Amino acid sequence: MTAKRDINIIETIDAMQKVSRGASAQGLTIGCVPTMGYLHEGHASLIRHAARNHPMVVVSIFVNPTQFGPKEDFARYPRDLERDLEIVRSAGGTHVFAPSVEEMYPEGPRSSIHVSGVTDVLEGASRPTHFDGVATVVSRLFEAMLPDVAYFGQKDYQQTLVIRQMVGASPLADVARVRIETLPTMREEDGLARSSRNIYLSADDRRDAPIIYAALKAGSDLLEGGCRDLDRVEQTMHEVLGQVPRLSLDYAVAVDAVTLRRSEALSDGSTVALLIAARLGTTRLIDNLLVTLTRP
Ligand code: PAJ
Repeated sequence: MTAKRDINIIETIDAMQKVSRGASAQGLTIGCVPTMGYLHEGHASLIRHAARNHPMVVVSIFVNPTQFGPKEDFARYPRDLERDLEIVRSAGGTHVFAPSVEEMYPEGPRSSIHVSGVTDVLEGASRPTHFDGVATVVSRLFEAMLPDVAYFGQKDYQQTLVIRQMVGASPLADVARVRIETLPTMREEDGLARSSRNIYLSADDRRDAPIIYAALKAGSDLLEGGCRDLDRVEQTMHEVLGQVPRLSLDYAVAVDAVTLRRSEALSDGSTVALLIAARLGTTRLIDNLLVTLTRP
């Protein structure tokens, strides 16, 4: 463990567990924020929220190879540890857990956790091995950081469902006891969701990217105005996205927020998830909005 400014940087699972067990033994609660680094305001909002609730806040920074497909951007995923440490410090984080790939996967990619059901659609359909990688690494990160509460962003909505299901089904006591909290998506002023991958956007891509949020807003406005026809909601989102012909759409759907599938019966109190994934240039962007139905 090396002290860097006033943050403790921990690189091994053993050392991390020792620090967490020591804190718990003193009665301190531990909040954690798992990340892949290249931190931005979205991550900072999670860290700040954790820091308001826990004396110890561990931010993990680990670009997880097992959640990238063979043709995806693992090698070029942006990394800047110095800058990340500054953001963690100013947001109120107390520890950074930054293990190597060998530390997290000493046996290589030989065993993994599969979450079923919610992983078959949307991101899971487009990126078939992605969520196994996420579930596996988050379980291992929890075993190292031993948090009481872990904070995730709604930005990756399907990921939050996968992680909740993984925790609920985990046979590992230290994983099963972790409480999961999901926090709102931080956006640029024009609506674009903050993302480490926004750095890949060319000037043209960046100009066009807010159309994704505009489409989500158009869909949620319809629902909030009383429309209960999800085909019409999806069609509206497609029409808005069609204003940018160079955008290549993966999906734009209105589905049940629990199952991520169309539910036939929409009732007051049920929540609809509007989810979009699209490519602009070489960058794949995802975003979503949740709308809880009330009587119009
Ligand atoms: P990463 O993309 O770095 O995101 C880390 C956390 O920050 C996730 O919970 C994500 O939902 C949240 N986040 C990202 N953009 C956000 C935004 N604009 N507003 C609010 N929160 C935002 O998600 C991952 O890393 C990885 O899959 C991980 C869970 C760390 C497993 O490797």
